[in-house]
Amino acid sequence: MSSVNSTIQLITREQAENGTPGRAQSSCSTELAKGPWEFDLAEALAGTPGYGPGASSADAAPAATPRQGQLPQEYKDASDDELESRIIAAKAELGDRVVILGHFYQRDEVVKFADFVGDSFQLANAAKTRDAAEAIVFCGVHFMAETADMLSQPGQSVILPNLAAGCSMADMADAPSVEACWEQLEALYGTEPDAEGRVPVIPVTYMNSSAALKAFCGEHGGIVCTSSNAATVLEWAFERGQRVLFFPDQHLGRNTAKAMGVPLEAMPLWNPRLPLGGNDAVTLQDARVVLWQGFCSVHKRFTVAQIEQARADFPGVRVIVHPECPMEVVDAADEAGSTDYILKAIDAAPAGTTFAIGTEINMVNRLAAQYPQHTIFCLDPVICPCSTMYRIHPGYLAWVLEGLAAGEVRNRISVPEATAVNARIALERMLAAKPSAARRA
Ligand code: 13P
Ligand code: SF4
Repeated sequence: MSSVNSTIQLITREQAENGTPGRAQSSCSTELAKGPWEFDLAEALAGTPGYGPGASSADAAPAATPRQGQLPQEYKDASDDELESRIIAAKAELGDRVVILGHFYQRDEVVKFADFVGDSFQLANAAKTRDAAEAIVFCGVHFMAETADMLSQPGQSVILPNLAAGCSMADMADAPSVEACWEQLEALYGTEPDAEGRVPVIPVTYMNSSAALKAFCGEHGGIVCTSSNAATVLEWAFERGQRVLFFPDQHLGRNTAKAMGVPLEAMPLWNPRLPLGGNDAVTLQDARVVLWQGFCSVHKRFTVAQIEQARADFPGVRVIVHPECPMEVVDAADEAGSTDYILKAIDAAPAGTTFAIGTEINMVNRLAAQYPQHTIFCLDPVICPCSTMYRIHPGYLAWVLEGLAAGEVRNRISVPEATAVNARIALERMLAAKPSAARRA
């Protein structure tokens, strides 16, 4: 099976030649066929950052979103084969001095050089197992590189090959807006614990958030969660608090809390641009989970209509979606789970199973190639990768590796220690949280 990127190149060529995508599927933007450096340059010229083509292209990037400087011309001009041999040579020269981590959503052309491939949390842990490596090249997005930096050894540098590889969902909650929300909630709820010792509200941040927000949680009795442990983390929070403030992903928060029995009317949405988040005081008093109004534009693309179509086309199909999908999609699917859950479900299924998957296309495409005994396809028929994961191209990987081989650390992600200290508290609480006996059973 060809990679997502080569399919996009084919679609764009056919469209240019025939005016239609021809044999191939369609993609959400012909701009995806360009090198990501074209967007680094366009953003530098416009003076404003953006997410580039792909699922997040219409999201507003905050002014503080990191930008990538210009990639030297030789890397832009190099053929795929030339980049491949340069990456192999630089990696061989660096040996154990470097470890390359690749997220499931990265393009195949990058993942093939990774020493570890996994979800954001597995990769942060993988970084720890190579403490002899002086550099960790993180082929993923900014918040993942920050977490790896905070969990790695002091002497190790974490490198993000393209600094514009952020996450539009993580950018939907910034520290000043969360602090302003917190002040309003404290003014409303007070700070006194109830008779059972539970404080009025506990902040919970999804791993997909800045280090500053993880630090906020560390400082305010809160915790981090991932999509694979969100229910365990909410249990932890409800043992200690009457309510939870969950950011930035409303869908993960709602889907998880709903599955735990929290009624929808006890989960108001917080719009950071409105006083009290757009709610009245009574609604907030009665809340169990206050949901930040963030979302992932990749997972927002999945719909109930796509699930109905998959069921009509493939009777008996097993539909698994990521919990960042909207609630009605999760409700209509057979199962919902993290990237690791999806991988394990496919791995454990009897040969000949048909799967319709609601997560990022690079991962789905790779699973389809790795498990030829099954039929695996993406619920979304339009190819629309994560805009920011897409920013990592082999050209940038070659550039950072050759820099390292020449003694230069390029694109280092370094979280200030004052932030990291508190963020680690929230991360460590997550690591120590254990599912309740009822959920283990
Ligand atoms: P994982 O935590 O499963 O790696 O997911 C990261 C992500 O960005 C999902 O959209
Ligand atoms: Fe962020 Fe969504 Fe991309 Fe994940 S898939 S990095 S949540 S924009």
